[in-house]
Amino acid sequence: MTVGPGEAAGMAGAGNARGADREKRLAVLISGRGSNLKALIDACAEGRVKARIAVVISNRPDAPGLGHARDAGIPHEVIDHRHYADREAFDLALGDSLAAHEPDLVVLAGFMRVLTPGFVRRFEHRMVNIHPSLLPDFRGLDTHARALEAGVPHHGASVHFVTTELDGGPVIMQARVPVRPGDTPATLAARVQAEEHRLYPAAVGMLCSGRVHTTGNNIWCDGERLDHPLLLDPAPEVTKPCAGTTRS
Ligand code: GRF
Repeated sequence: MTVGPGEAAGMAGAGNARGADREKRLAVLISGRGSNLKALIDACAEGRVKARIAVVISNRPDAPGLGHARDAGIPHEVIDHRHYADREAFDLALGDSLAAHEPDLVVLAGFMRVLTPGFVRRFEHRMVNIHPSLLPDFRGLDTHARALEAGVPHHGASVHFVTTELDGGPVIMQARVPVRPGDTPATLAARVQAEEHRLYPAAVGMLCSGRVHTTGNNIWCDGERLDHPLLLDPAPEVTKPCAGTTRS
């Protein structure tokens, strides 16, 4: 895989000293329901993602998603943010727990905490998030209601690298969902979430296989710099926009 001049490779790049062929270790952070975590657990179990979930960490002791980790026999921890004096102290504890599990990739799956710059830098180039909109549209909360208010014809979800800018890191892959007449925030959210459960494993799978990595502002896929995010096909296929097949 090609790495741009003067740029350091991210977790899955050729420059990864730990080896591209070794089974990758994921750490998944959750705060709530954990349906994306479940999709990732299933994808790993079925071999669609060649990785092992080394740990699931929740900042909320009552997060229902912890049950998915328990059921699958995956180590899981609670680091309750309310027990820490400030964001820095919580992020330090979270970072130390994560680091102990030596993750290749930190996967935010409904993790409802704003992360400090120090934490983000610690896991730079190897931390991803899923956001329920077609970024850069509708960063932040209430994305489905805001998409309906704006009258957009398409909505969707994005997987992006995490940077210090909230919902602002480079976007790896997106899934598009048409907005239908009569949609409510709830009906739209349900269709977007169904796509999220295909999108996150697809994106994480490409990261784990080494096909995709970042060098900072740029994302590389199969040795080419991406001009646009990858787009998840409506069929279970991933197509590169540079191949000119699905991108509008
Ligand atoms: C998803 O909609 C995701 O896009 C957002 O948080 C939600 C998490 O849902 N970041 P779940 O906990 O994975 O069910």
